[in-house]
Amino acid sequence: MSIDRDALIAAARTASAAAYAPYSRFHVGAALGFADGTIVSGANVENASYGLSLCAEAVAAAKAMSSGIRGGLEAVAVIVGSHVEGGGITATAPVTPCGRCRQVLNELAQLGGTDPLIWCVGQSEVVELRLSELLPHAFGPANLV
Ligand code: THU
Repeated sequence: MSIDRDALIAAARTASAAAYAPYSRFHVGAALGFADGTIVSGANVENASYGLSLCAEAVAAAKAMSSGIRGGLEAVAVIVGSHVEGGGITATAPVTPCGRCRQVLNELAQLGGTDPLIWCVGQSEVVELRLSELLPHAFGPANLV
């Protein structure tokens, strides 16, 4: 099943509204799209001890894996923006997942043998990349068997 790009982006946008980012004011939403149509989203969760902050993609991946999902990751949408009074989000330029998140996403991707599309959503453009382009020669579960 191919993933509905607009639906996945909408889920990421909705998730970003729940970002807890009082320190960076960088509100990130991520949505993971699975082959069976399941969408799991997340937002960044910061901490007063800054280094403990969690990225949106890692939150979404942890939500998915802790609900038992182990594969089928076909696409990921990531959106960043500032929230405006009365709701809504002003998107920035497209942002790619950070290095740690690439590795976290790779775990789920490799488990299911997929190479997900990553849609990095900006105000006026969506940059589409494969996870393998963002994290070539990845280390993953296959290396430990
Ligand atoms: N952040 C994400 O949620 N995803 C990324 O891929 C990049 C960075 C968050 C972490 C932190 O809460 C804020 O954005 C600023 O770095």
